[in-house]
Amino acid sequence: MTTNTRFLGLYITICVLAFIISKITIAVLCYRRWQKKQFVIQDTFSGGKLVLFRSPKIKTLKSNVFLKKTMKLTNKDRIGSGGYGMVYKLTINDSTSFAVKKLRKETAEHDRGFERELEAMGDIKHRNIVTLYGYYSAPNFNLLIYELMPNGSLDVVLHGRTMEKMIVLDWDARYKIALGAARGISYLHHDCIPHIIHRDIKSSNILLDENMEARVSDFGLATLMDQDKTHVSTLVAGTFGYLAPEYFDTGRATTKGDVYSFGVVLLELLTGRKPTDESFIEEGTRLVTWVKTVVEDKKEEYVLDERLECYHVDEINHVFNIALMCLETEPSKRPNMSEVVKMLEKIKTDQITCS
Ligand SMILES: Nc1ncnc2c1ncn2[C@@H]1O[C@H](COP(=O)(O)OP(=O)(O)O)[C@@H](O)[C@H]1O
Ligand SMILES: [Mg+2]
Repeated sequence: MTTNTRFLGLYITICVLAFIISKITIAVLCYRRWQKKQFVIQDTFSGGKLVLFRSPKIKTLKSNVFLKKTMKLTNKDRIGSGGYGMVYKLTINDSTSFAVKKLRKETAEHDRGFERELEAMGDIKHRNIVTLYGYYSAPNFNLLIYELMPNGSLDVVLHGRTMEKMIVLDWDARYKIALGAARGISYLHHDCIPHIIHRDIKSSNILLDENMEARVSDFGLATLMDQDKTHVSTLVAGTFGYLAPEYFDTGRATTKGDVYSFGVVLLELLTGRKPTDESFIEEGTRLVTWVKTVVEDKKEEYVLDERLECYHVDEINHVFNIALMCLETEPSKRPNMSEVVKMLEKIKTDQITCS
């Protein structure tokens, strides 16, 4: 009896100890994992803080070299400028470079909300979304460190500017970009928790990787900058041609607003025309209304980009129809992004050969 009691006591003690040890081990592992999720370097010279999210590319970098090179960026390294500020190319070595976006900051206060949002963005990994590797926060500016997209943005490739390399996108390339961008936006809307509304879908926020695959960028940036209130006029001016009509009444961003903006991008791919083209403003019309009337008259080929030589007419007509569904004035009549992806996937026929 006593032996049994002793044995039971020993058994219970071992169980309790095993339980405590396992909990402690789990806690230590979680803490280590949390610690490794990001590298933080405090820059005592500028009073700034560099945060790099954990990723295979970042792992091989020396953070102090990274910080030094980031601080040395000049106008020579500029690769673009937009509503939020300048974009620079940061070259670490022959095989590693990044795109660094400098955001103006009017108040010097340390913004925890800003950092939390960025950390959430850093967790998002998808083949059609530009990776955010980290950020640098200083009293007067913030830097966002993104994956560098070697083929720049769709807007430059499609509308080209003088002095910049011109790539003429054929129909298959445009279809691939449309589908990739739709998948990226659909991922933000339907698969991220909490769901993300992009708020600024436009061709300059669709970047192109080395395989001309679309990567959506700048999601959540509109919300972030809204809190800072530094962008308002530039954002509205820059994105005017893409905003859904209800946005002007409600001022509220919705997923269906993103669907509308995506419809405008589809028209841009089909027509090769810029939604913000001044000739539309002069004529008192918009790309959307112009295309709508032409499609109603079944004269799609009349508005199609002249540079497109080889395509399947059925595919073109289907994409025009999908674009018009996205551009319904009434938001509830628009499809959601996962439906758009399915529709786009369905229309591709076998490749045609052109002589
Ligand atoms: N990750 C990146 N890789 C390569 N080029 C980029 C990247 N991000 C932005 N750019 C270039 O910088 C330009 C300006 O970008 P941005 O500041 O986001 O303004 P906007 O989106 O209003 O054009 C883009 O049009 C693009 O050509
Ligand atoms: Mg952008």
